Amino acid sequence: MKVAGVPYRAIFTEGDGTEVRVIDQTLLPHRFETIRLDSTADAARAIRDMVVRGAPLIGATAAYGVAFAMRTDSSDASLGRAMALLASTRPTAVNLRWALDAAAALLRPLPPSERADAAYDFAAQLCEDDVRRNRTIGEHGLRIFREIASRAGKGGTSRELNVMTHCNAGWLATVDWGTATAPMYLAHDQGLPVHVWVRETRPRFQGAGLTTWELGQHGVPHTLVSDNAAGHLLSSGKVDLVIVGTDRTTAGGDVANKVGTYPLALAARDNGVPFYVAAPSPSIDWSIEDGASIPIEQRDPDEVTRVWGVDEEGVERRVTVVPEGTRAANYAFDVTPRRLVTGLVTEKGVCAAEGAALNRMFDRG
Ligand code: MRU
Repeated sequence: MKVAGVPYRAIFTEGDGTEVRVIDQTLLPHRFETIRLDSTADAARAIRDMVVRGAPLIGATAAYGVAFAMRTDSSDASLGRAMALLASTRPTAVNLRWALDAAAALLRPLPPSERADAAYDFAAQLCEDDVRRNRTIGEHGLRIFREIASRAGKGGTSRELNVMTHCNAGWLATVDWGTATAPMYLAHDQGLPVHVWVRETRPRFQGAGLTTWELGQHGVPHTLVSDNAAGHLLSSGKVDLVIVGTDRTTAGGDVANKVGTYPLALAARDNGVPFYVAAPSPSIDWSIEDGASIPIEQRDPDEVTRVWGVDEEGVERRVTVVPEGTRAANYAFDVTPRRLVTGLVTEKGVCAAEGAALNRMFDRG
């Protein structure tokens, strides 16, 4: 997607395809800077510190992390060390493990002399696949948007389709397009009037800082609301559908996503508002059935007790918002049970959030 009119991806290469750059998402929306990643340690740090974040982008960055390791030492031991380091960075998004396992399955049978080139090719292909997958999710999601718009008599010029989202499942969270945002961009580009309610997404403000920024860059109309406003908007008929991303969808259809997704799904259900999850296949964990088995990341409580922003003079500041010494807990994700999910929007199409439907969609015996 575009930044000030210039096409960007959240991760991209320059030169011969081995110079890897990412957008530093810890600085947005106040500063747009890209940084170069040049080692496995760089990639691991970028994931852990959320310079890059969002399940698909974490997977893509990890793939390049493996390639960096193979460039300096292509032995089995080096591959094992790189995988262990990268896998330890963030526990919830299964795309990380998916990318590492796929890289290892490709590289292990190869002679060490061929591994570096193969690893870079693999990472580049993973990025291209991500873009294609997200674009397809956008097309399936757009059909849902059109259907809901026509049911509600919208889609003309009179009133917009009001979509609510949580966190940032946008192009910044992927290589391009985003998952939950892909249908928003397509709708907007194709003239279906869409307006997005963006939840701020405490504590790290991925909604307030990132989703508003990327929708704004593309010209998609949106309004920021506090997380707590969602119930009111849903109950007063101001939301036609909710669509969010996922960090891990179980084989049974439960969905782990940014903390706050579960209460949003509850409020949507109570008000009869469709609640969709944009779920690319690499975020499906076929090895577990029940969402209770998903590891939930706990991050530094500092992210809850302090906020970062720019003051009236334009100076970046981090300020504390609690009494000194307050104990805080920072759960980064929650699990939305399948019963609250209207449908999973995958690259293969839209299906019910349940095991049999997922198996059929992905042709799994
Ligand atoms: O902690 P984050 O910012 O990495 O969490 C991101 C989310 O929860 C996204 O909704 C999810 O990764 C899907 S991104 C297409």
